[in-house]
Amino acid sequence: HSTEPAILSFPKINDPRGNLTFLQHPDHLPFKMERAFWTYDVPGGDTRGGHAYHQQREIIIALSGSFDVVVTKPDGTQVRYPLNRSYYGLYLPSLTWRHMENFSTNALGLHLSNMVYSAEDYIRDFNEFKKLHENNNRI
Ligand code: TYD
Repeated sequence: HSTEPAILSFPKINDPRGNLTFLQHPDHLPFKMERAFWTYDVPGGDTRGGHAYHQQREIIIALSGSFDVVVTKPDGTQVRYPLNRSYYGLYLPSLTWRHMENFSTNALGLHLSNMVYSAEDYIRDFNEFKKLHENNNRI
């Protein structure tokens, strides 16, 4: 599977009665979903996330409102992905350090994951994250 973040574009059925977007595995979802979670009522100026996962892959969708997903590379450089349309999703492979910020009022952020919740899967220490990348690149 892809080792880089990627913006995915989901089908959009335009309709004067209201638009409709969907996704299904394997056409638009690169993994079988085991869990969904979503963030809401995030106070303006707050950030969420700020960690990586060993195994978890995810797709993040701004179902309502807007927020930015910021990916930090092992060398510290950052790439910002502004999400503000419900028919776009951001795919993040495992071992991606990311946080969410710049939440608008009423922002609703949906995360689809290939795994059930596992506290052990979290990497919360940036130095550990860097070391894991270095070890991966050596193999
Ligand atoms: P966490 O992923 O740590 O949020 P953030 O990275 O934004 O700080 O989740 C916050 C809390 O919610 C944490 O105590 C674990 C719990 N949680 C679950 O129990 N199940 C889940 O699927 C998720 C995403 C979090």
